[in-house]
Amino acid sequence: MDTFDCIVTKLDVRQFDGTKHVPADVKSKVLEAARLTGSSNNVQHWRFVLLQEKENIEKLAQDSTTGGWVRGADFAVMVLTNPKVSGHMIDAGRVVQDMQLAAWNYGIASGIFTGINAEKLRKDFGIPDDLHPTAFVGFGYPAKKITGRRKRRNPLAEIVFVERFGNKFDPSKSLK
Ligand SMILES: Cc1cc2nc3c(=O)[nH]c(=O)nc-3n(C[C@H](O)[C@H](O)[C@H](O)COP(=O)(O)O)c2cc1C
Repeated sequence: MDTFDCIVTKLDVRQFDGTKHVPADVKSKVLEAARLTGSSNNVQHWRFVLLQEKENIEKLAQDSTTGGWVRGADFAVMVLTNPKVSGHMIDAGRVVQDMQLAAWNYGIASGIFTGINAEKLRKDFGIPDDLHPTAFVGFGYPAKKITGRRKRRNPLAEIVFVERFGNKFDPSKSLK
């Protein structure tokens, strides 16, 4: 898939087709996309926990406060980051997006969540104190066909300024 099309059509999906499993090579590509993502000063402080066993995905769902839907995912990835690294949350955002786009390139949908009972999660999955459980992504085949419905996003004219904050961007005018 063309990169721009991938960005345009990708949605955060929370309902998965439980009858289909994601092929191992696609999972590997998702992890490889994570590994290849750039991080602050290239320190690669992150660690990932791959969950493929139903009971562990269920445990993650129970530990979550905003991502109970992950119990329907075929697999999930936890993104742990070092909070001492400045920009660690940006690093997490980049790595999540890369994993999600890599998956979507192969027709695998995904959703992110961040709400977690960190204490419970640490106990359940043996996460060390020096790593922050920053983001969680569930992956699987989407339950419903994704037809590329328009995303609910603000128009460029509202969010882009030109040269100086306040100078509204006019999308009808051609760019330089
Ligand atoms: C930093 C961040 C945190 C998010 N946390 C949650 C979450 O805890 N639970 C959840 O269901 N979705 C979460 N989302 C998903 C957003 O709700 C979703 O990206 C947004 O609604 C746009 O979805 P769309 O691309 O399908 O239109 C989060 C997204 C981001 C970027």
